[in-house]
Amino acid sequence: MEIKIITKNKEETLKLGEIIASKIFIGEIITLSGDLGAGKTTLTKGIGKKLGVKEEINSPTFNILKCYFSSSIPLYHIDAYRLEDIPRENKNIGLEEVIEGDGVAIIEWPKFIEEFLNFDDVLDIVIKINENNEREFTISSKNERFSSLFNELKEVYKL
Ligand SMILES: Nc1ncnc2c1ncn2[C@@H]1O[C@H](COP(=O)(O)OP(=O)(O)OP(=O)(O)O)[C@@H](O)[C@H]1O
Ligand SMILES: [Mg+2]
Repeated sequence: MEIKIITKNKEETLKLGEIIASKIFIGEIITLSGDLGAGKTTLTKGIGKKLGVKEEINSPTFNILKCYFSSSIPLYHIDAYRLEDIPRENKNIGLEEVIEGDGVAIIEWPKFIEEFLNFDDVLDIVIKINENNEREFTISSKNERFSSLFNELKEVYKL
């Protein structure tokens, strides 16, 4: 399943995050790719808002992982950007305890920890900045578990 959605501003991206969060389950992993400033953290803020995270969600670039427990479902926000040059054998920082844990995990820059991820099982989101400075979200999954999310997105965005 694959769907493309364009957001014209930050607020529309937050809204998209809220819709995604409304159809996500415990143990799921969302991978978020896209250039610097594409809107990965903005989307995460929308997801966190809907899950009920009370703290401000910031880009965790200087922390690899931030955990939020104030929400109904814990949110684990991982930014793998700084793991780019870390050798594989040193990269095992216990991410697997978070991934497939008791909450929802969101991973920015998943390509830097791809050896720990099963891309057949995640909700994958790629964000592109288009010529009008809009954000084009390509949301895809190989797993049928996400079909209710895709149906919801089709309905809301009239696709
Ligand atoms: N449609 C849009 N959706 C999201 N953000 C937008 C949009 N249009 C403009 N912006 C701006 O783009 C920036 C997105 O920043 P954000 O931190 O979400 O990006 P990021 O992908 O997490 O970057 P990084 O790789 O540095 O962590 C914000 O300053 C936001 O105001
Ligand atoms: Mg970010």
